[in-house]
Amino acid sequence: MSTTYIYLFCTILFIVAIRYMSDTKTAIWGCICGIIGMTIAIISDFIPLPHEAVALIIALLSGAAIGIFSGLKVKITNLPQMIAIFNGLGGGASVCIAIGNIAGFSSALIAGAIIGAITLSGSAVAFGKLQGLFRKHLKSGLKILSANIISLIAIALCIVFYYYSHQPLYFRALIIISLFWGLVLVWPVGGADMPIIISILNSLSGCAAIAIGFAQSNILLIAVGALVGAGGLMLAAFMLKSTNSSLVKIFIPSHPASSSSQLNLQARSGTPAEAAFIMENADKIIIVPGFGMAAASAQHALKTLGDLLHQKYNAKIMYAVHPVAGRMPGHMNVLLAEADISYDDVFSLEDINPEFATADVAYVIGANDITNPQAKTNPHSPLYGMPILDVAAAKTIFFVKRSLGEGYSGVENPLFFAPNTIMLYGDAKKVTEEITRILEQ
Ligand code: TAP
Repeated sequence: MSTTYIYLFCTILFIVAIRYMSDTKTAIWGCICGIIGMTIAIISDFIPLPHEAVALIIALLSGAAIGIFSGLKVKITNLPQMIAIFNGLGGGASVCIAIGNIAGFSSALIAGAIIGAITLSGSAVAFGKLQGLFRKHLKSGLKILSANIISLIAIALCIVFYYYSHQPLYFRALIIISLFWGLVLVWPVGGADMPIIISILNSLSGCAAIAIGFAQSNILLIAVGALVGAGGLMLAAFMLKSTNSSLVKIFIPSHPASSSSQLNLQARSGTPAEAAFIMENADKIIIVPGFGMAAASAQHALKTLGDLLHQKYNAKIMYAVHPVAGRMPGHMNVLLAEADISYDDVFSLEDINPEFATADVAYVIGANDITNPQAKTNPHSPLYGMPILDVAAAKTIFFVKRSLGEGYSGVENPLFFAPNTIMLYGDAKKVTEEITRILEQ
């Protein structure tokens, strides 16, 4: 079989893998198809073995070992950081191939090098921000715009000089300026926009692979790059729609952080016993999970509580999932499915919002930003424009969290001080288990 047919077969396996991964029930088969496709692709590329076989095998085995180790060890809450690293590695690999193969002017290699370098440095910044290593953002839209324009002009000049002189110096300068541009692009981004930037970087790593694929006449690289590029772009578009944001707002943020302080207001705190009393008398309870539920691994405790309230107290239990709840797309869906919560009880933002007005209880467990009314009312808030879950409309709102602390966006939530809100301070899992224990008695 010629390499072209093998590549075609691998591409089909990757497409099937993505299709299967769109459903939790078939996701495991998606992973298996992806692994088989990638294994065949790698083996077919190295037959007959080139003279650097030993170096290649060492590189492959070390890469596989790091992949397996991180897959096993990285906590689900840290997956965005891992994806940022993998995007950066993809971009870095494209830069390395471009450096290793450049001889004369090749527009495809140059495109691969530029996009790869932007992805590499941008992903490094994104990793640092997600990991909480640095949070400082440039606030002036004008400064950001100028830095972007200067980078763009410098890159254009390097391309022109390289085209006419073929001096490697200009190619190296091109890569360094592209690395700088990646930093400039991602540095101002923060808060709720981080998942979108991760998807865009993911898409860019695919685009870099496409460019390198063209330069190397490797159709598999072109096909896989196109899958990654299109996938990342679609995810970014979906999240932009879900947060009512735009690329300009993300890359050139102009709003100052909210300065309104609610600290002079008193939040009402309650106990698990009070929560149990209100919940056992409720007909309809909407559970709103967020990042804190994931951090506390409270999904199984939540399932036990939901089942108990339904079976013993006849309450209708609904789970509300916001598209950007947690720290990655589908985060809550994955955890609720892991706890065996029926998909029929899980509702999207559009479907659940009209239900809050008739709900007796909204049990907000480790969620914050996705319920913050400032997204509707405060044009100066970084959350402004993001659709939220309308928990305020429920008769009683319980917020299960450890303090009055902010969420990912760093914005205070005025809902903590609403007359129908009761704060249940503590770890999401422990509080939920305590309510269940009281209800079981
Ligand atoms: P957040 O707004 O981040 O709020 C989570 C809350 O959980 C925090 O206020 C924290 O309060 C609480 N918490 C943390 N550990 C806890 C524990 N062990 N027990 C109980 N509570 C705990 O979460 P959200 O409402 O899910 O919103 C998600 C945010 O992350 C959005 O801003 C979104 O844009 C952003 N984001 C989303 C993604 C994706 S794609 N989903 C990716 C990156 C970022 P205490 O410290 O007071 O306990």
